[in-house]
Amino acid sequence: MSNLLPTGKRVVSGMRVSGNLHLGHYHGVLKNWLKLQYEYECFFFAADWHGLTTRYEDTRVIKNSIWDMIIDWLAAGINHSSAKIFIQSWVPEHAELHLLLSMITPLGWLERVPTYKEQQSKLKETDLSTYGFLGYPLLQTADVLAYQADYVPVGEDQIPHIELSREIARRFNFLYGRDPGFEALAEEAIEKMGKKNAKLYRELRKRFQEHGEEAALETAQALIESQSNVSLGDKQRLDGYLEGGGKVILTEPEPLLTHVPKLMGVDGQKMSKSYGNAITLREEPASVEKKIMTMPTDPARVKRTDPGNPEHCPLWSLHKVYSSKEVCDWAWQGCTTAGIGCVDCKRPVVEAINKELAPIREAVKEYQADLGLVKSIVAEGSEAARKEAQNTLDNVKAVMELDY
Ligand code: TRP
Ligand code: SF4
Repeated sequence: MSNLLPTGKRVVSGMRVSGNLHLGHYHGVLKNWLKLQYEYECFFFAADWHGLTTRYEDTRVIKNSIWDMIIDWLAAGINHSSAKIFIQSWVPEHAELHLLLSMITPLGWLERVPTYKEQQSKLKETDLSTYGFLGYPLLQTADVLAYQADYVPVGEDQIPHIELSREIARRFNFLYGRDPGFEALAEEAIEKMGKKNAKLYRELRKRFQEHGEEAALETAQALIESQSNVSLGDKQRLDGYLEGGGKVILTEPEPLLTHVPKLMGVDGQKMSKSYGNAITLREEPASVEKKIMTMPTDPARVKRTDPGNPEHCPLWSLHKVYSSKEVCDWAWQGCTTAGIGCVDCKRPVVEAINKELAPIREAVKEYQADLGLVKSIVAEGSEAARKEAQNTLDNVKAVMELDY
């Protein structure tokens, strides 16, 4: 692995393909990627297959927006000499690993992922009782495990997906990672504990391995420790056997919990592409100004002389992201005492957004004029990513004895 980074750790992150990026994506995801790319070996990809799980009826949306999304990344400063930038479907190993993992994934593990039922009830207009949609978190698992990722940067809502990835990796290692002979020795050691303890050990082991119960693991470890008729070697064997034992073929990833500021859109609801209330990374200055100036504020400020409460004002979410402490204090003070009007209050936000977007907008134009360059960056990134994924697949197939 060519890796000059101090930590030597890997980060994998994907973004679903869905139209132009907006300020919410920028502050929630991209700014984090910008930092991570200089701290870790990063793999950032456009999740086109994930887009398909909910957009299977109109696949053109993906084709129409994938390059724009990648251009937005590059324009925002994602650097292809630091991070591997690629398209999920250009690394078909994601699909192959997904298929192999599907064989060992209990249905219940997928059905209990909270986003499954939530999204189904949210996106009523699309029928999401599909195999592909149920498998979404498993595809995400394959995305991450294919690269032996150490960390996955995610917001709170994605934590259960990473938990699932950890359980799948554990189960895989348990099923296919044992050295020959290890199991027989471990089984003998279990018998040495006596009938009652052996039975308890087996139960606890099963609870931990199949359901990930940490408490069962701890109880079993204490049980092993308390055995006086078992040799040290056997105790180590019993410990290893508990956690799967033997080799680790797939790395269990950890979430890197990312703070995602809640940005309000220009209609006062959460900023989101589907609500049509977003300010995109490509928004022209005049349009930024118009959108902010017409944005609703604290309804208590009917007249200029009515004081307001910034906590009741959607614009305040933007001040918190864009303004210095001094400007925030000024806005707070001015709002609560009716010392300033909403137009005054909004002006620094308009300026800050436009200042932030100016270089991005310019860079977008340059990349748009040279789509060939963008495509070659992605081709190169996909090829490099593919090498790593193939490596993992080779190991996976070898331990599953599929390497005929
Ligand atoms: N599910 C993620 C989202 O909706 C996107 C995603 C797909 C992802 N594969 C991933 C994120 C792998 C991190 C790692 O935002
Ligand atoms: Fe919102 Fe500022 Fe107006 Fe107060 S003064 S209501 S914070 S825009």
